[in-house]
Amino acid sequence: MIICRTKAEIRNTVRTWKKAGETVALVPTMGYLHEGHLCLVRAAARKADRAVASIFVNPTQFGPGEDLSSYPRDEKRDLSLLEAEGIHAVFLPSVEEMYASAGDTHVEVPSLSGILQGALRLGHFRGVSTVVTKLFNIVTPDFAVFGEKDYQQLTLIRQMVRDLDMPLEIIAHPTVREADGLAMSSRNVRLSNDQRAEATVLNRALDRAEALAAAGSSVQEIDAAVRSCLAEAPSAEVKSVDIRDAETLAECSSPFDRPSVVLLAVRFGTVLLIDQRVIAPQT
Ligand code: PAJ
Repeated sequence: MIICRTKAEIRNTVRTWKKAGETVALVPTMGYLHEGHLCLVRAAARKADRAVASIFVNPTQFGPGEDLSSYPRDEKRDLSLLEAEGIHAVFLPSVEEMYASAGDTHVEVPSLSGILQGALRLGHFRGVSTVVTKLFNIVTPDFAVFGEKDYQQLTLIRQMVRDLDMPLEIIAHPTVREADGLAMSSRNVRLSNDQRAEATVLNRALDRAEALAAAGSSVQEIDAAVRSCLAEAPSAEVKSVDIRDAETLAECSSPFDRPSVVLLAVRFGTVLLIDQRVIAPQT
């Protein structure tokens, strides 16, 4: 496994592979890897001749008062997990390396960056689209793998790639879950035992949404059922339930006749959990 801390090192590594006619898949991450990230890495390795992961806690996607300084990091553990997966290279730049220039230019997808989670985290998605553009320009992958767990992020990256004719294919990976259905996240360890037990309510609410959609329920009925399911968990504080067009994240039109996505944000104490499910109308 080649460890690259500079842009020049990863560029040279990828250039050598490409000269030999090999394809490259990138998995961008902020580290502190769990099984969800590793599934993306495996998907990248299946898709291309060479798999690269990047680990960079990107300061520009954290707002003031957000958890940048307390974002968990464990480089040694991350590297040994990636090594065990047989990944070919890791790009691990410092903030100074990544943002060596003035950082005056930004990439933004305004129709998607200011809604839903973006309305709560101003500037977050502009930081994401800008750093992902930089990573694409530095690594020049043929494929990049993103998790459906961060559905708005995935939608925004896809739109950006289409709009700017970026020469790569975005691969979406389904949300990876614990055995009891909780979506894997580095935040899960911060839940108390009781909260952890209750947190499975998100997946149950999404199962219910999926079943109701298949049975021909309306968006309003699905929304009400999801909220009443979430209300069964006494310590769950529901921040948002949104049902949106699965492709554009626009408000759903009535009747419900296109694939939609149910997006949940639920707080347990200080821990905000998000989850999502694409639901299809009755055919
Ligand atoms: P991070 O939160 O580290 O996530 C890296 C990738 O792992 C994202 O594509 C995310 O959707 C995916 N992921 C996380 N948990 C998952 C799960 N349970 N199942 C499937 N995929 C999962 O997302 C970011 O970093 C950053 O915003 C980044 C894109 C790297 C830009 O800085």
